[in-house]
Amino acid sequence: MIIKHVYDYNLDQSTYEQLHKLLIESFEIYPENRIYFKQIPHFRFIICNDNEKVLAQVGLDYRAMKLGDEVINVLGIIDLCVNKIYRNKGLGTKLVRKVLKFAETNSVDFVLLGTEIEEWYEKIGFIKVSNTFTWHAIHDRKLKSLGTRTRDIDRIMVKQTGKKKWNQDSVDFLGYLY
Ligand SMILES: CC(C)(COP(=O)(O)OP(=O)(O)OC[C@H]1O[C@@H](n2cnc3c(N)ncnc32)[C@H](O)[C@@H]1OP(=O)(O)O)[C@@H](O)C(=O)NCCC(=O)NCCS
Repeated sequence: MIIKHVYDYNLDQSTYEQLHKLLIESFEIYPENRIYFKQIPHFRFIICNDNEKVLAQVGLDYRAMKLGDEVINVLGIIDLCVNKIYRNKGLGTKLVRKVLKFAETNSVDFVLLGTEIEEWYEKIGFIKVSNTFTWHAIHDRKLKSLGTRTRDIDRIMVKQTGKKKWNQDSVDFLGYLY
């Protein structure tokens, strides 16, 4: 079993097709014609077995955001999923730990994600935050810009991976909300 660091711009066809199948099977509503919801991730970590079968994946978005007046470097976790047959064997946790290690050894202040399975992420050290967020809204079916939104969101979790501390200030995503 190996964790690969891959980029969407040069995925081979087999990996692309396996990722597509994995995403469609893992999320209730997933676009039929692409391997992202709203925007292509900057890179992915994928877990493959010795036969090059893709068992799990996570998309990553590396971005500058604003927390109040401060610029923060944020690594966003997108569409983490594990093949149904391989769930509850530690692969999801392994991928998130890989992301955290990557963040801690690179210039990343926080790892951030939106989720409904808070308890699962809490076990790995994430905390739920309640800020007001501003972002660029995208219609995921039409892939169309809808303008700027500002709202409280209650499904965002973060993990500090640098020296900066999270606080209650408003957050500007400076881009789309994954
Ligand atoms: C959520 C997911 C990534 C977890 O991956 P995994 O490899 O199965 O999880 P792990 O083996 O690392 O962890 C297993 C533990 O998490 C718990 N767990 C698994 N799925 C869970 C879920 N959806 N909600 C809450 N807890 C869950 C298990 O009960 C187990 O708990 P235990 O350690 O106390 O026994 C995987 O279930 C999945 O792909 N789900 C569908 C897609 C999804 O919801 N992704 C999350 C998007 S934010």
